[in-house]
Amino acid sequence: MTGDPTRRLAPVVRLAPAKLNLTLAVVGRRPDGYHALHSIMVPLGLADRLSLAPVPGATDTLYVTGADTGPIGDNLVLRAVALARSAVGAGWPGQGRPPALAARLEKRIPVAAGLAGGSSDAAAALDGALEAWAAELGPDARLAVAARLGSDVPFFLAGGPALVEGRGERVSPLPGLVGPAPGVLLVTPGVAVPTPDVFAAYAAGVRPRDGAAARATSEHLAAEVARGMTTSSLLARAAVAAAANDLLPATLELVPGLVRFRRALLRLLGRPVGQSGSGPTCFVLYPSLEDADAAAEVVRSALAEGALPPVAGSRPGARRPGDAAPAIVVATTLGGAPSGAS
Ligand code: C5P
Repeated sequence: MTGDPTRRLAPVVRLAPAKLNLTLAVVGRRPDGYHALHSIMVPLGLADRLSLAPVPGATDTLYVTGADTGPIGDNLVLRAVALARSAVGAGWPGQGRPPALAARLEKRIPVAAGLAGGSSDAAAALDGALEAWAAELGPDARLAVAARLGSDVPFFLAGGPALVEGRGERVSPLPGLVGPAPGVLLVTPGVAVPTPDVFAAYAAGVRPRDGAAARATSEHLAAEVARGMTTSSLLARAAVAAAANDLLPATLELVPGLVRFRRALLRLLGRPVGQSGSGPTCFVLYPSLEDADAAAEVVRSALAEGALPPVAGSRPGARRPGDAAPAIVVATTLGGAPSGAS
């Protein structure tokens, strides 16, 4: 075959969903320094949008838009494309190396928020690059690339709810909830919290008083979800799930203003407030998207009236863009894994 190989390859579009940790138990420290986890992770309806187009030349490019884009150097999309290219290597069905890609990323997921937006973008870039090149990579090779990109990346290859163990590389798919998808209110205070800082505080001893509680909850809940849990029984257990995050004390130590913020949110909404991952995103579960939407309005009004205290960052430069907004408020659904183009 001759000519420009990019001409017969098609651009691809992927939605990269945010994730929620319904539970997050730290169950040990591994010899490699990472923490061993037991976590029920669920994709959300909130997603970034990534498009990848094969282009002539040798250089991959990335253009990012959105309110909260984060530092471009931290973005994992180009790294994912580069690792995918090396993994495909000589096995590419075309000639030479898989061509360069022009990536466009529309960020909707807040960064450094506990929602794994960057990891999801990386998983979407890996999967999308392979499709853009019409290249094959077996499941084990895909998983190995994903794990190299970051601990949260393998989860997104599952495409649905999963029990996540190890440092994040052991992913056991779980069935979705039985019944209508619950609504989720996400409230992300205006301060970025880097995951390594939270794990470092945890490692230094900032932990829940009852070190076994989150694990017990996570194991019970995972077993129930595996048997086919209804949405209403999850909602009935919302308080237990909201308490099952071993990283919360570490996040609160790094961002002390979160204590008052979370308390005020609980008073305002009268429902359990959980934390996703290493935070600072707070989540509240509702029976439907409409209910979560109504709660989002209540939170927006409270923010506008100053009834929710602003959260100050512990480090200079930790504030999100748009200083006027003390928090990002999103109503979305739990359990729906968006796929394909939008
Ligand atoms: O894997 P990733 O680069 O996303 O992890 C960021 C940091 O979070 C790691 O360097 C490590 O300090 C911490 N971490 C951990 N245990 C995990 C996941 C992350 O200690 N299971």
